[in-house]
Amino acid sequence: MKKILCVVGTRPEAIKMAPVILALKKEPWANVRVLATAQHRHMLDQVLNFFNITPDIDLNIMRPNQALTTLTARLLLEMDDVLLSEKPDVVLVQGDTTTVMSVALACFYHRIAVGHVEAGLRTWDINNPFPEEANRVIAGRLARWHFAPTESSRQNLLREGISDQDISVTGNTVIDALLMTAANDLELPIELDPAKRLVLITSHRRENFGEPFRNICLALRTLSERNPEVQFLYPVHPNPNVKDVAYELLADRPNIILCEPLDYAPFVAALKRAYLIISDSGGVQEEAPALGKPVLVLRDETERPEAVDQGVVKLVGADYDRIVSEAQRLLDDENAYRAMAQGISPYGDGHGAERIAKILRDYFS
Ligand code: UD1
Ligand code: UDP
Repeated sequence: MKKILCVVGTRPEAIKMAPVILALKKEPWANVRVLATAQHRHMLDQVLNFFNITPDIDLNIMRPNQALTTLTARLLLEMDDVLLSEKPDVVLVQGDTTTVMSVALACFYHRIAVGHVEAGLRTWDINNPFPEEANRVIAGRLARWHFAPTESSRQNLLREGISDQDISVTGNTVIDALLMTAANDLELPIELDPAKRLVLITSHRRENFGEPFRNICLALRTLSERNPEVQFLYPVHPNPNVKDVAYELLADRPNIILCEPLDYAPFVAALKRAYLIISDSGGVQEEAPALGKPVLVLRDETERPEAVDQGVVKLVGADYDRIVSEAQRLLDDENAYRAMAQGISPYGDGHGAERIAKILRDYFS
């Protein structure tokens, strides 16, 4: 038996690692262990519950508004004990959070092999997204296996000198999770008018904190005033830098519904119900095209260029005028809307986790 330690810290890591954990659990040669750093608490737990995954180890690392340096230092200290007692053959990390970077570094110091799920996403700008671009570059430099979601992420890794034989294009496991979930009867526990169109919003990027995020909220406010017949649903990220401003600037608008983060299945229901999505989330940029929903991305660049190139996702930055005019155009102009609502899935076919399991199976046999 080979011991595989699968690490999850935040909501998106749990969503994208869940299919990998479930696929590996079917492998007779694999002793799968799950480590939750719990960089997120509530948002992580609800995803793990949904996929029926119980962590074997839980570091409970989240503290309100914790500095990234403190978070990193605490993770590194905790990982010494975990790696010494667990002695895994492989550690799998997913994505580009501080959990991923810290765990990959701890494994490197302990000479334990790391597999990086969702490897090779790059903007080539170390400050955007912050701190994720640095986190994924560091994790990528330290990893033994690179599970790249797309051909362009593979090319990014080759450009950094990673050996071709260590890279596999697997598709993004976010589509595995999405297809598993969307196949169920999904309920959205929010009262909506079925006759009205829905704009779904999420936002949490650190480089937007402060003035840019205020501009985003002001643009949403204007859109809600100009379109009283449209409903805006915004599950607000619990980071205080986001939550306090969103409630200050938007809570009094009658057609904007602010709510706690939605559990994963209801969020997928909201994606399916939405007419248009406005978001700075990485995962949402991958999921929405697969469901045929246009996304306006609240960023100036993206490490997920495939959907932009195919015309189903558009970058609008945190610029008040661009957000208002592009969203208004999609609400008013049916042809412009149809051009973006195509239903293509450039990030995966729902079999990413199986491919990752097979690569590890082949290696260990
Ligand atoms: C983190 C990741 C980001 C990822 C995002 C997904 C880093 C540096 N950032 O950002 O890459 O896109 O998760 O959502 O790794 N909080 C709660 N409850 C929760 C979760 C968060 O209250 O369940 C609050 C806490 O005050 C916490 C703060 O949000 O300190 C920030 O959480 P943190 O994980 O540091 O960063 P995120 O902004 O969530
Ligand atoms: N998501 C969710 N509930 C919400 C908002 C998002 O379950 O209220 C899911 C969404 O389907 C996607 C993931 O969370 O799979 C994206 O996470 P987030 O935006 O926090 O992080 P990112 O993808 O930007 O790293």
